[in-house]
Amino acid sequence: MSSALEQDSSLRLLALGDGFIYARALHLAAEMGVADLLSDGPRSTEDLAHLTATDPGTLHSMLRALAGCGVFTEPSPGRFALTAVGECLRSDHPRSVRTTIAQSGRITARAFQHADHALRTGDGAFAAAFGQPFWEFLRDNPEEGAAFDTAMQEHSRVEGEAIVEAYDFPETGRIVDVGGGDGTLLAAVLQARVRTTGVLFDLPHVVERNHIGKAGLTERCEVVGGDIFGELPPDGDLYLMKSVLHGWTDADVVTILRGCRKAMKPDSRLLLIERVIPPGDAPHTSKAFDFAMHVMAGGQERTGDEYTRLLTEAGFAVARLIPTGSVQSIVEAVLPGSGR
Ligand SMILES: C[S@@+](CC[C@H](N)C(=O)[O-])C[C@H]1O[C@@H](n2cnc3c(N)ncnc32)[C@H](O)[C@@H]1O
Repeated sequence: MSSALEQDSSLRLLALGDGFIYARALHLAAEMGVADLLSDGPRSTEDLAHLTATDPGTLHSMLRALAGCGVFTEPSPGRFALTAVGECLRSDHPRSVRTTIAQSGRITARAFQHADHALRTGDGAFAAAFGQPFWEFLRDNPEEGAAFDTAMQEHSRVEGEAIVEAYDFPETGRIVDVGGGDGTLLAAVLQARVRTTGVLFDLPHVVERNHIGKAGLTERCEVVGGDIFGELPPDGDLYLMKSVLHGWTDADVVTILRGCRKAMKPDSRLLLIERVIPPGDAPHTSKAFDFAMHVMAGGQERTGDEYTRLLTEAGFAVARLIPTGSVQSIVEAVLPGSGR
């Protein structure tokens, strides 16, 4: 007879193996805008099925599964409403993650069908799934490119406050955000430090979609299109790179960091803002993201020691590793001899 521990263990594995069912249901709910349809209150499955052109029986099953994990609630049979968690699937919620989850269903889930390729080769599997590397795909599919920017904006909105709070950003000076996407994080920093100026740097077709104007920062922020493997904007007092280096191999990271060092003044500082992997077995999103970055891009998340090694190789000294109240940590680096 099997022990209770053995039975629990099998059940736990089965639940883990079924995780994709919930992920897929969530992707579809986000894609179909179910939470937007529930924003004024509960609706019947028939009503939702009519509005989303879906089969009522299958839709009911999908929503009930998601109600079982706290996204929706079924207050009376066949009627669904949003929970506090489900509210964040609404497009207009200040902490919305709808675009991230919907795009994950269209792109990440498809690339993960080829995760075995990444495992066998050590290269990212994105091109095996989509026929071209990730950044080229986003360039050639501007709707997905814009959705990716919005997804990054969603992350920065959720994490930005904690990052701005965790670091003593300077009161004055020029802050360069390298691979800054649409500028959501940089805008948050510039708004918190009203005497600083900024430079948003990213690929030319990405910076075209920037939000600097909308944030009312046109006067204080330059927008520069370019390549992180080319020349970076010079003379910044502080350089930021958030969620940039995790998309690249160690060799590429060292090249990018050396380029950044060239652009910096002797007393400039560099902040890497990344999901730094903590030691031990405790669950942390960095561990799942690490696997995802291997599969998507042949990149990886890294431990504090791994960032220190790469920064040292590129000619930097690590000053501090600063946790934030979010999943992101800040690795602060300086140039040796800068006296900081
Ligand atoms: C994961 S996103 C992070 C965006 C932003 N820092 C944030 O955290 O919201 C990585 C960024 O790197 C940019 N990027 C990728 N390849 C690049 C390149 N060769 N030159 C400049 N930027 C690049 C992408 O366009 C994207 O905006």
